[in-house]
Amino acid sequence: MARRTSVHGEWSSKMAFILAATGSAVGLGNIWRFPYVTGESGGGAFVIIYLICVAAVGLPIMIAEIMLGRRGRQSPLNTMRTLATEEGATPAWQYVGWLGMAAGFLILSFYSVVAGWTLAYTVRTAAGIFDGQTADGVQAIFTSFIGDPERLLGWHTIFMVMTIIVVSRGVKSGLEQAVRFLMPALFVLLVAMVGYAMNTGQFEQAIDYLFKPDFSKVTWEVVLKAMGQAFFSLSLGMGAIMIYGSYLSHTASIVKTATIIAGMDTLVAVLAGLAIFPLVFQYGLAPSGGPGLIFMTLPIAFGQMPGGAFVGAAFFLLLVFAAWTSAISLMEPVVTWLVENRGMNRVKASAWAGLFAWLLGVVSLLSLNVWSGEQFQLFGMPFMDLVDWLTANVMLPLGGLLIAIFAAWVMSRDASRAELGLPEGMGYTAWRVLVRYVTPVAVILVLFNQTGLI
Ligand code: PFF
Repeated sequence: MARRTSVHGEWSSKMAFILAATGSAVGLGNIWRFPYVTGESGGGAFVIIYLICVAAVGLPIMIAEIMLGRRGRQSPLNTMRTLATEEGATPAWQYVGWLGMAAGFLILSFYSVVAGWTLAYTVRTAAGIFDGQTADGVQAIFTSFIGDPERLLGWHTIFMVMTIIVVSRGVKSGLEQAVRFLMPALFVLLVAMVGYAMNTGQFEQAIDYLFKPDFSKVTWEVVLKAMGQAFFSLSLGMGAIMIYGSYLSHTASIVKTATIIAGMDTLVAVLAGLAIFPLVFQYGLAPSGGPGLIFMTLPIAFGQMPGGAFVGAAFFLLLVFAAWTSAISLMEPVVTWLVENRGMNRVKASAWAGLFAWLLGVVSLLSLNVWSGEQFQLFGMPFMDLVDWLTANVMLPLGGLLIAIFAAWVMSRDASRAELGLPEGMGYTAWRVLVRYVTPVAVILVLFNQTGLI
């Protein structure tokens, strides 16, 4: 088969791809979502199941997504259609692309709202409003903040505009530079926070909480949440990694790069847990405190450490950048599709995609305050929780399942082996067994047991 090239261009190097994909994976999912979902799910057992999901489900699917992207070289939707036709399968596989675009769009809507919180917290921390605050004070500040729709709206809008600006310019120009410096900086600061937590917080209790599994706490719901978290955190199941893979050069090793990306993502999540839980226990907060967890713990530390206003502002600012590079990848599949199929230019495509995601985000934002009453809930959840639940725990795993089935059952052995650039042998066989049997069975079992959807 003649190799395709992408009309949207190619990464300048393999390193650029690793950086961009890591930028997509590392975001609010690691630092905001992982700790609070761990806390809601009872700790250690959840963490172990999460790690198993990353290795046995996430990594094989990531390899599959990059492979499909590089082979198709178009938006996820058109890639799926082209590859399906090439393999003599039904073009209905393009619906995986639709599902992915819908998921990306829905995630982006509430992601931008939470990213807005981090923007606000950058400014607030820098201004010193947490200096010397007690745990109760910090909690009260957060509660009053999310109770104020106008403030939230302002920050949500700023973040969405930031995302539109980068996507409209083409993700390859600015992203690489940004990620190259900011990711290591975030990493260093996170390690420093772990160091701080080690000295001032209940570090041993946190270690026990995070790594001593109590399997009596495991229910199907916990397993589903762990799997959903793995998909969310690794940016899988919706085409974000697929579209980035479509800009990857043919010489790069997919297996190696995917392993690096998944490894870094997991490391950041574990570090976030180690930075936050010692403080949770130190200040007698509830691990199950929900989505506000990091905003109610870290500022206490920033308020008490010397130079905390500076360190704290730097931390939240880096988190903004991490969220930004993820949001960009959430928008990219829709934008490339609009460019390919609707003949729009990138600027127009990003503006439309951003506008709709922004509007939906406004509904999420209002569900935190004005529409937080029970009469506004759907399926017993506020709108924002519902969108989060539906995307992470249903749409992404379902998309990932279909991607695995396509890569391992529809695509021929020769085609996948050639694209992965692997010889016949243990490595290739291991991947194939995982995506062919382990991943689909695991995802089907978990989805079936917990959602009743399939
Ligand atoms: N992986 C991102 C995070 O952990 O914050 C969120 C995300 C980005 C999810 C892209 C899905 C996606 F396609």
